[in-house]
Amino acid sequence: MGIQLQLDHLGIAVANLDEAIGVYEALGLRCSHIETVQEQNVRTATLPLGDTNLELLEPTVADSSIGKFLATRGGGLHHIALQVENIEEKLLELKTLGFRLIDETPRIGLGGSRIAFIHPKSTFNTLIELVQRGS
Ligand code: CO
Repeated sequence: MGIQLQLDHLGIAVANLDEAIGVYEALGLRCSHIETVQEQNVRTATLPLGDTNLELLEPTVADSSIGKFLATRGGGLHHIALQVENIEEKLLELKTLGFRLIDETPRIGLGGSRIAFIHPKSTFNTLIELVQRGS
């Protein structure tokens, strides 16, 4: 049933975006896009990697989700983002299955995409983001 999910991106929390871009570029990746997402209080860098992307996330506000993660865990892998065809449908389906959702309705993400987070309590402490790309 349905279409195979794609890995949209891996979200990595960093304290200093420019410094982190330098490190990942030294590894051989290239930054293709930098964007501030006000709604999430982050400045982001996208680095294509195969069919997916690394997304480096620097908090613009200390008292934000990424800011708190940096303060308590020192940064690192923050979430895995899955690309879905219809985010409302997926959220409804997951809710019916008993998943705990951080976002019951989608909000605006990078590049006008629509995103929603699933609570890590439902996924063995790995934060999962759903992404529906803008069309
Ligand atoms: Co993300």
